[in-house]
Amino acid sequence: MLDNLRVLFIASEAAPYAKTGGLGDVAGALPAYLNQAGVKVKTVIPLYQSIDRERYSINLLFNSSCVKMGNCEEFYSVYHTNIPNGNDVYFIDFEKYFKRAGIYFDANGDYRDSAYRYSFLCRAAMQLAKDLNFKPDIIHANDWQTSFACYYLKSDNDEFFSNTKSVFTIHNIGYQGIYEPDVLDYAKIRYDDFSSWGFESFGKLNLMKAGICFADKITTVSPHYAQEILGPIGSNGLHMYLEARKNDLIGILNGCDTKVWNPATDKYIPANYDLNSYKTGKAFNKKILQNMFLLQENPNVPIFSFIARLTPQKGIDLLAPVVERVINSMACQIVFLGSGEEWAQWFFGGLPARYPGKIGAYIGYSEDKSHLIEAGSDFFLMPSIYEPCGLNQMYSQLYGTLPIVRATGGLDDTVDNYNEQTSIGTGFKFWDISVDALYNTIGWANATYYDRKDDMHNMIREAMIKDYSWEKACAKYIKLYQELITWK
Ligand code: ADP
Ligand code: GLC
Repeated sequence: MLDNLRVLFIASEAAPYAKTGGLGDVAGALPAYLNQAGVKVKTVIPLYQSIDRERYSINLLFNSSCVKMGNCEEFYSVYHTNIPNGNDVYFIDFEKYFKRAGIYFDANGDYRDSAYRYSFLCRAAMQLAKDLNFKPDIIHANDWQTSFACYYLKSDNDEFFSNTKSVFTIHNIGYQGIYEPDVLDYAKIRYDDFSSWGFESFGKLNLMKAGICFADKITTVSPHYAQEILGPIGSNGLHMYLEARKNDLIGILNGCDTKVWNPATDKYIPANYDLNSYKTGKAFNKKILQNMFLLQENPNVPIFSFIARLTPQKGIDLLAPVVERVINSMACQIVFLGSGEEWAQWFFGGLPARYPGKIGAYIGYSEDKSHLIEAGSDFFLMPSIYEPCGLNQMYSQLYGTLPIVRATGGLDDTVDNYNEQTSIGTGFKFWDISVDALYNTIGWANATYYDRKDDMHNMIREAMIKDYSWEKACAKYIKLYQELITWK
């Protein structure tokens, strides 16, 4: 049965080729694990300038493919690899849209023509399926960039896709893809569909909303977030549309790619470790981390760390006023890794100079540092205002680094709050969006580190054996795909 299941998976980024956040992790891992489970998946992403073709053996497949966009014919090439994980990934090479300094933005800000760029990507992905004679049962689209595919499936009435259904995964409803409607003709959106039940929102184009309206099934990346987006705040205003599609909405928790995130095999960390060797392993990694971030070398002080895009979603407005209170009142060290909002880059990036030996920061993106930080820290900070799923709190637990989270979205689903009576838990939770709540929870974790060492040990062990396998998530996606096929 599974052998016959075919999925065309379209995304705007996929690890390890191109990644700006969790979407990249998921689009890299989910198709590979589905593939491993027997589903035939073909992933399509753009060939961005930053993608290293040699490193991943990405080779030319078609050199003059063509799609009609509005009145123009766009000619492009298609590249392909199935290295490093055996999963077929196709890259759409079109200089006008994808040979740029950034993925979504550059030094001058967000690319303003992204509705053009991604409508083209969706067209090219669907054309590729035809060129390969790959008739998908499912087109699986991800976030606003790829909602066009769900629409084209309905609006084109193309015989080739007559048995194809669509799944639209919402990774983050905070980003909706809002653009001027000048793209309608180019993207071949019928004027009738530039309407409330469709693309239109306050006179502009809202691509997230279009995905919600036109997809056959909608998923999001945790059960809790699936509930939250039914409300006006959680949905950023799209709750009415989701309410209307409630019966087709399901929350499926993301997994962790344990081929990449596993302390026993992680290539980026100096000392690999497992449940039995975590004490020595983490101690060695802590020493290297302290050296790398110019912190005082001290095995007996807890390190709190933070890795994220520096955006309001991640709670940076709570964290900024808390850091100095923490460092002035608790014996601890703090490490930051991230990039994003300019004020935050200046603020967090400036802290090491003000608190030498106690705070370390790297402003930028660094895959290897992110692994070392997970391995060498004691606690991981995720005070997110909202968090659809969140991956770092899962990585943290597997690395024996206890997360401190606000109980929202996937953070609430994946972290078990410490219970001092039973000594059970895998992290520390707070609920209020308040500086004091965050400060007090960091204090709670810090006190636990010094005063309840046995509880720390129990929690670390409990955290490290959590099952966040992609296999579990895949089974749910497969069930959903199969349900859709029987709709035929
Ligand atoms: P989001 O997708 O909202 O950014 P997630 O927690 O789902 O949040 O995923 C973030 C991913 O991006 C994780 O793999 C995290 O390690 C990574 N990441 C974020 N910022 C950086 C950075 N500056 N350097 C390296 N990795 C980063
Ligand atoms: C988004 C969300 C994050 C989620 C990721 C992958 O970027 O912000 O919470 O983990 O997508 O689904």
